[in-house]
Amino acid sequence: MTYETILVEQRDAVTLITLNRPQALNALNGQVLSDLSAAFAAYDADPTQHCAVLTGSEKAFAAGADIKEMVDKDGADFFLQDFFSGWQTHVVATRKPWIAAVAGFALGGGCELAMMADFIIAADTAKFGQPEIKLGVAPGMGGSQRLTRAVGKAKAMDMCLTGRMMGAEEAERSGLVSRIVPAADLLDDALKTAAAIAAMPPMAAMVNKEMVNIAFETGLAQGLLTERRMFQILTATEDKKEGMTAFVEKRPGVWKGR
Ligand code: HXC
Repeated sequence: MTYETILVEQRDAVTLITLNRPQALNALNGQVLSDLSAAFAAYDADPTQHCAVLTGSEKAFAAGADIKEMVDKDGADFFLQDFFSGWQTHVVATRKPWIAAVAGFALGGGCELAMMADFIIAADTAKFGQPEIKLGVAPGMGGSQRLTRAVGKAKAMDMCLTGRMMGAEEAERSGLVSRIVPAADLLDDALKTAAAIAAMPPMAAMVNKEMVNIAFETGLAQGLLTERRMFQILTATEDKKEGMTAFVEKRPGVWKGR
């Protein structure tokens, strides 16, 4: 399948999705949402694919929601279209793991899109920010919520109220990104990490993802109970039997994905 605003390729069990609107620094418009929704749905449905990487260009992961698309809309348009809701229902809803590999600007919706990933690997050139306040608005795709959960109230307030950018070092220190790599190594590193995840028992990967996400959405007692139940459910899979037997027999596991 070909898309207007993204490039998609499969590298063994890893799907690589590249935002491709260089003339607009990968600003996120309706077409990007529609393309990404289709690409993530295809990835989720493809039994040969077990991890995905979403990346942008050297200059910009994405410079935000498309301001030119929003400038002439009025409040009723945004409300009636439930603007931005598709990101939650189509992108965040992806059940299999995916990584954001971020170089350059990840601003506004770009930062929010990166935070929808299971984790972010940042190039040393990455710059994160929620500059919506400078446009007279506020984050609308999760920025005030996911950023606060990732970096805490003090940094999130600082970022949202000043609209300033945070470099890769500060982002790693603050817990926004899992690691920093030299820009030239970003894609290689992200693809290697994705390949390592893709080599894991696939149901276990999906459940691990779901469980960490549940930690953000529920209280500790409910989260611990859900974790225990999910663990118990995974013990019923063929891959659990294979994984534990393979360990005892000192050989690598061969996964069935069920
Ligand atoms: C539409 C954008 C864009 C955006 C950049 N471009 N960001 N178009 N929406 N978010 C376009 C520019 O208009 C320009 O096109 C081209 O990309 C190159 O950008 P320049 O500004 O010339 O590049 P540079 O001088 O290097 O500056 C880079 C930048 C700046 C610092 C990232 O582009 C910038 O500040 N962009 C806006 C960042 C932002 O405010 N993001 C949040 C958006 S709001 P032309 O055709 O003019 O050459 C959001 C959520 C809103 O994300 C939620 C509220 C409802």
